[in-house]
Amino acid sequence: MKLSNCHNFNDFRELARKQLPSPIFHYIDGAADDEVTYRRNTEAYESVDLVPNVLCGVDHVDMSVEVMGQKLDMPFYCAPTALQRLFHHEGERAVAKAATQFGTMFGVSSLATVTVEEIEQLAPGPKMFQFYFHKDRGLNDALLERARAANFNVMALTVDTITGGNRERDLRTGFTSPPRLTWSSLLSFARHPAWAWNFLTKDKFDMPHLSGHVDEGTDLAVSVGEYFSNMLDQSMNWRDAEKLCAKWGGHFALKGIMSVEDAKRAVDIGCTGIMVSNHGGRQLDGSRAPFDQLAEICDAVGDKVDVICEGGIQRGTHVLKALSVGAKAVSGGRYYLYALAGAGQGGVERALGNLRTEIERDMKLMGVTSLDQLNRDNLRWR
Ligand code: LAC
Repeated sequence: MKLSNCHNFNDFRELARKQLPSPIFHYIDGAADDEVTYRRNTEAYESVDLVPNVLCGVDHVDMSVEVMGQKLDMPFYCAPTALQRLFHHEGERAVAKAATQFGTMFGVSSLATVTVEEIEQLAPGPKMFQFYFHKDRGLNDALLERARAANFNVMALTVDTITGGNRERDLRTGFTSPPRLTWSSLLSFARHPAWAWNFLTKDKFDMPHLSGHVDEGTDLAVSVGEYFSNMLDQSMNWRDAEKLCAKWGGHFALKGIMSVEDAKRAVDIGCTGIMVSNHGGRQLDGSRAPFDQLAEICDAVGDKVDVICEGGIQRGTHVLKALSVGAKAVSGGRYYLYALAGAGQGGVERALGNLRTEIERDMKLMGVTSLDQLNRDNLRWR
């Protein structure tokens, strides 16, 4: 599989599978319990059909959108994901540069492997910081102030990782961060010499936003589930979210909202965005898919807050369906992570380029020249 042969999500997934030692591939690829929700996140798009119009004069189409005050050249952005240095030695740098090339936003996790200060230098465009609410209040303050000083435009508080999801593939492979060397992982690293060479000889793995505050994830090898369960504050509640939103004072989103009730409360505490998301099916298996839940959330709060549909996106038509229901934009993690793992910045650029081409083609075939022309009249539920 060559990068030039990667035409869709599954092609990039195969490329990543070839490049990555299996514990790392399965960390990206896996989800919680029986992975029912993970599969449903994409399958949900098949329960709705598009109804196109023709003869609309579509020689020029405009796919730009405005989300939480940020003007994006395309309606997809790279959702924040952790630990990118494990997937490719360029890590977050590659994603930041690729997203900037495409005039779209990207997220940087509290658990990132490159500093927000470096990201600021690489990516002058719109940036989101993904906040994890730790027990350590000093760490929380430091994260917020560092993101502010580095001119991040949007703060997204993750609300769906109050405890670690049951990721059985990680239990089976023994995935930890940084990777723990066991006989079986060594064997897998030996079978992927390019990855192993880059991991050992390029920039050392680090989680610079946490160093100085916690050992986990920097020096100690722990699983992500353990990190969530031990380091994050399970007493986090609406008052904490409201205080954080006020302290940030700019565009603020809750990432991982699924109920209408919570969407309304997000508006009440001052959020300007919500990500309808189940964390890529990695937390609560059996949770509803974001696309299935989108209509009722958009009906309740779509005129008060920017609703993002996150997860499961593999095609331009998925993007158009989510926007037809009422999302302002969509975002995804695995969509660009496989490409990052497979080919670094060039991979992410190709993945974003493919999606942009699909969205443009699909808009033309739908008979729309701008995304605000999409609505539920051009959808039929099966
Ligand atoms: C995960 C976290 C780190 O899903 O976002 O693994």
